[in-house]
Amino acid sequence: MGRVVLVCIALAAILVACVPEAPATEPVARGRQLYRSLGCANCHEPNLVGQRLGPALDHIGTVAASRRPGMSAEEYIRQSILDPGAFVVPGYQDSMPRDLGRDLSPTDLDALVAYLLSLK
Ligand code: HEC
Repeated sequence: MGRVVLVCIALAAILVACVPEAPATEPVARGRQLYRSLGCANCHEPNLVGQRLGPALDHIGTVAASRRPGMSAEEYIRQSILDPGAFVVPGYQDSMPRDLGRDLSPTDLDALVAYLLSLK
């Protein structure tokens, strides 16, 4: 009997893990979902051998304010997503994909920007 219960609990856990997350309504939470689903972490967080293709974004909300004179942090982050070649962070290749922001709705793009801005 106990084993049956355990199997059921395991199956329920697998089911919960496989069902796609519902889109969050709060912008920063939604932005975090998009960051994960668009694969930003593939380049911006260390891979299995500890390498990173792109700069860490842990403090991008602060860093972005001083990247380009006359550009606010929000403007810079938005441009980095929509037009990655407009400014290439020193020490990195201009290798960020061009199409990541193209299919996002305006609301989702705002959410992704809000999430990155929150990383102070
Ligand atoms: C294929 C690798 C790759 C992927 C995927 C990728 N990036 Fe990048 N990203 C880079 C590289 C390389 C740079 C540095 C060169 C440059 O400035 O374009 C960069 C730069 C940035 C910057 C500027 C960082 C700074 O310190 O000024 C932001 C912001 C950024 N990426 C956000 C994102 C977001 C959001 C996503 C997901 C939607 C994403 N990136 C996906 C490679 C990637």
